[in-house]
Amino acid sequence: MKKKRILFFKITGLLIFLILLSGGLSFWYVNKTFLTFENGYDEQTNFSELTKDGYTFFDRNNNGKLDVYEDHRHSIKVRVHDVLSQMTLEEKIHILKGAGMASGIGITKPGRISGAVGTIVPTPRLGIPTIYLSDGPAGLRIEPTRKGENKTFYCTAFPIATLLASSWNEALIYEVGNAMGKEAEAYGIDVILGPAANIHRHPLCGRNFEYFSEDPLLSGYMGAAMVNGIQSNGVGTSVKHFVANNQETNRLLNDVIVSDRAMHEIYLKGFEHIVKRSQPWTIMSSYNKVNGTYTSESNNLLTDILRDKWGFKGLVMTDWFGGKNVAAQISAGNDLLEPGTNRQWKALIKAAENGELSLDHINRATTRILTLVFKTKKMQNYNYNNTPDLKKHAEITRNSASEGMVLLKNEDVLPFSDINNIALLGVTSYEFISGGTGSGDVNEAYTISLEEGLSNAGFKINNIAKQTFETHKIATIESFKKPEGLEAIFTPFTPSEMKYTTEQLHNIVTTSDIGILTLGRNAGEGGDRLEKDDFLVTELEHEMIYKITEAFHKENKKLIMVLNIGGVIETHSWKTLPDAILLAWQGGQEGGNSVTDILTGKVNPSGKLPMTFPMYLSDHASHDNFPKNPKMFTLEGMVKNLIFPPNETPKARKVKDEDYTIYEEGIYVGYRHFDKKNLEVSYPFGFGLSYTNFDYEMTEIDVKNDTINISLNIKNTGTIPGKEIIQFYIKKMNSKIDRPSQELKAFTKTKLIEPEAMESVSVKIPIKELSYWDEKKNDWALEKGSYNIKVGASSRDIRQIEQLKF
Ligand code: BGC
Repeated sequence: MKKKRILFFKITGLLIFLILLSGGLSFWYVNKTFLTFENGYDEQTNFSELTKDGYTFFDRNNNGKLDVYEDHRHSIKVRVHDVLSQMTLEEKIHILKGAGMASGIGITKPGRISGAVGTIVPTPRLGIPTIYLSDGPAGLRIEPTRKGENKTFYCTAFPIATLLASSWNEALIYEVGNAMGKEAEAYGIDVILGPAANIHRHPLCGRNFEYFSEDPLLSGYMGAAMVNGIQSNGVGTSVKHFVANNQETNRLLNDVIVSDRAMHEIYLKGFEHIVKRSQPWTIMSSYNKVNGTYTSESNNLLTDILRDKWGFKGLVMTDWFGGKNVAAQISAGNDLLEPGTNRQWKALIKAAENGELSLDHINRATTRILTLVFKTKKMQNYNYNNTPDLKKHAEITRNSASEGMVLLKNEDVLPFSDINNIALLGVTSYEFISGGTGSGDVNEAYTISLEEGLSNAGFKINNIAKQTFETHKIATIESFKKPEGLEAIFTPFTPSEMKYTTEQLHNIVTTSDIGILTLGRNAGEGGDRLEKDDFLVTELEHEMIYKITEAFHKENKKLIMVLNIGGVIETHSWKTLPDAILLAWQGGQEGGNSVTDILTGKVNPSGKLPMTFPMYLSDHASHDNFPKNPKMFTLEGMVKNLIFPPNETPKARKVKDEDYTIYEEGIYVGYRHFDKKNLEVSYPFGFGLSYTNFDYEMTEIDVKNDTINISLNIKNTGTIPGKEIIQFYIKKMNSKIDRPSQELKAFTKTKLIEPEAMESVSVKIPIKELSYWDEKKNDWALEKGSYNIKVGASSRDIRQIEQLKF
């Protein structure tokens, strides 16, 4: 018996020892491979100064004389050429990959930026600094607190990209971008990893909230405005994810099978507009493959198209840990590997030694990286002060959010009048969602809920409704705990919804003047959405909508619905019930104030949909080829994928929509499909109501210098000042090829027009933009003949049609 016990203790002891050993070894491996492997490359920041001809310079390499690259009177090209000539091969290879994930997960030395998810590594011998890269599309994402410091580093949560696109206002997006750039500048971030410009191919892509639209022109123009705004501060952008990254499911291995025509007309087009209109400092290649090749290893995409055809001048970086073969990546024109791993470093050295990676390609990538480094404020000895104007940026957030919210329905209820006591229903009214999860999230200091927004404007919040919520919250407190830290990245916050009894509703309705029911949705990186209980309203929500509207209407009171969502949901089965529907999207940290501004009429809604709200999900042509059983990423899964990169599934076992996705619908994405097939939709692309009305009168349409010029007078015929978005679609008459029945080719937005006043607007459409992609010629082709130019208030509210012949 004693012997057995001793044996038992020995075996247990051995097992514990092995577990500890393997735990210790795993930690050591993860640390040395992904976190801290940069030994000997510590950034150099103490330089002595040199003076010459009345100018002061840093002696970056400490050689006591002024080198060409240290002399800021020279052009960046000349300086980079000089520094490149001084770099060893080892230093060049070193700079091709970042310093790992340590800073991204908050492991930094005191005084350094915590939470910057990527870096360009320093070259200490030559005094080249560390460059910090940080997410993302709705504002900067860095750690808000730092060990040993009392100061906080909160950033502004701006509205999600989908909301910004719904404003159709390039000047406004520029202003938001400018504020984001200023915040990055203040916090010492050199490149913002955004905007994200992928197409909304299907409503259930988990990251659609980060993206602008189902239309490439709108995506491209919005993205370019954002890039121009950010970069006006000397802060770079990384436009992502290049390209055809339209699902999260199996994103590291998914192979997109797509026609050349759809690539050029739909998936590349938005990026093309961005490159040509704003020349971003960087582009981020996507995780997926296109027709069998990882985008980060595709010479055709990264060199032939991006640089040779479009004239892109910046650098391309990978998405985080994206792609497989480092030599193929650098050779294809993917210059920088982010966030960088020790594995990649070793692989690069090996590829350089065995000739797989040529010196020319190493020099090309290093030159592009150094060109970016020399453009940054870091190289201009700029001292960031960590004090962005958060108050001003909150105001910009509030205004931009209200301009992008879309009024879907309004039956004599909005703007409010004679309202004092408001009943707020649904948990999201009290727990407003500012944005989606994942790298598109922001660490903001606060989020204004609808309750706070309405209270700030002086309304009384119905106490019974509020108490009902509080009781529900206490009873289901677990679901109200917000995921924290790394967990938060892949876990959307979704508190449990409420059920109201008839008696509760009766008490709420009789003690209030009006009801607002908010529906919330939260999704994000690492998972696609589901049809059931996400695209479709849940059974409980359906019951709520039905019971609540009935209770208010019985007492002759109105019920407004607010949709605090990041992506499209089903609306047609319930939209007849409430008196008004405001699509508030996820409006950033001032969301509740922005919604209040619209409800009260302080702001007249002027947003219009950047995508279609279909009747049924299956109406989308892409639906047959989109993942139906998505699995959400987990932290453990991500770490496992890092340590043991997933292997290709053998050909015979490849699973449709996971290992590969066939874009069978070709160019028929969004309204291009619904219009071609004449399908009824719940709300069409470009739709949005105002508190006023506008008349359209075309004053000019002519063609000069291969450009169509169109001018219109827009008159406000209502009683409230308002802004109008005017959309210009084209249709090729009697086309010999299969083409959409209409395509957006231009848009414009008026300023605030007073009642009875008029504003003249004009747009230009280069004729070559009417071309289609000819797969036989492998080029754009312009069909001769007649084109209808349609001017609309939405894609299905065409006010005027003119015909032109080319
Ligand atoms: C995302 C990128 C992001 C990067 C860094 C990746 O997982 O796909 O959009 O910029 O992480 O956070």
